[in-house]
Amino acid sequence: MIKHADVVIGLSYGDEGKGKVVNSLLKQGNYTHCMRFNGGHNAGHTIHKEDKILSTHAIPTGYLQDVQPIIGPGCVVSPRLLEEEYENLVTRGFRGTKKIFIDKRVNIISAEHLNEDSNEVSIGTTRRGNGPAYRDKYARKNLRFGSFSNWNNGFFEVVDVYEELHGEKECEVMMEGAQAVGLDIDWGDYPYVTSSHCGLAGVIQNGIPMQKIRNVYGVAKAYDTYVGTKKFEKEDPVFGKLREVGMEFGTTTGRPRQVGFLDLDLLVRSAKLNSVSHVIVNKVDILEQVGVWKAIFNKEVIDLQTKEQFVRFITNTILKEVETTKNVFMSESPKDI
Ligand code: IMP
Ligand code: MG
Repeated sequence: MIKHADVVIGLSYGDEGKGKVVNSLLKQGNYTHCMRFNGGHNAGHTIHKEDKILSTHAIPTGYLQDVQPIIGPGCVVSPRLLEEEYENLVTRGFRGTKKIFIDKRVNIISAEHLNEDSNEVSIGTTRRGNGPAYRDKYARKNLRFGSFSNWNNGFFEVVDVYEELHGEKECEVMMEGAQAVGLDIDWGDYPYVTSSHCGLAGVIQNGIPMQKIRNVYGVAKAYDTYVGTKKFEKEDPVFGKLREVGMEFGTTTGRPRQVGFLDLDLLVRSAKLNSVSHVIVNKVDILEQVGVWKAIFNKEVIDLQTKEQFVRFITNTILKEVETTKNVFMSESPKDI
């Protein structure tokens, strides 16, 4: 039975540093499980560990910690890419202690889905078969992990999340989001969106009853980044510098990320829509290195001059605008987990 679940979601366009927040919460808390609840191999969490930089895609970032990792029913997974991702971690010396549980309802990204997405150009997907797999899921003609008996891949096990989380054992679950509300299928800037529910709707749909949700951690970055074909409205020569210093290149595709100032209008909307209790603003050190303190509010660029003013403005705006948010934390670039 679930004692409670905490949730980590992105408030902007992904790549806010959710992996770092998940890892530090897992270290501090008494969590028993860490579940990825949306998306597939389009996600990319960067993990810094022992001087190595690792990426996880479909595998929950909690895999390297002492919790049971689960890929939840809201996800889509390619068995081939999953195996490659796992092999890559193991080759580099990182083997989790537990098998990865995959819910039997998880839909399969097939070779055809990957092939179809491989030359997508209109919205600039990550080309990992995400859209075609969700399309076929909703057309009710797709295969799921439970469609096969006797998977025997050693490192994962097909389970029923209901039995795992709603049985006798008391569970504390970390719900690890991928992408972000700005890319949500319904609440993002359609059609420049991913194909899954990146907020609380996605969490609940993965078998987590609403009233078991304790904290919702919304993650943002001190400036925004986005990958895809949409163009940000505001231009500024400093964006190139932020990209270089912040190393803003896609974890999954290596593409340069488009950079913009932190859009508080989007952040506030995402936080309100998902009853966010804590906001974490990552990579403030990058703005400091570049020496620019700007944000967008009410569609205007606000020039805040100093770090102190920036921190105060961001914090006060969020606390004033979002009723459920009680804490705003400023944080730096990810370091070792
Ligand atoms: P898809 O999810 O691969 O179909 O891509 C749809 C849109 O979401 C594209 O603009 C992608 O660049 C973006 N996207 C998908 N996953 C991520 C992510 O993990 N981080 C950042 N952008 C993403
Ligand atoms: Mg990412």
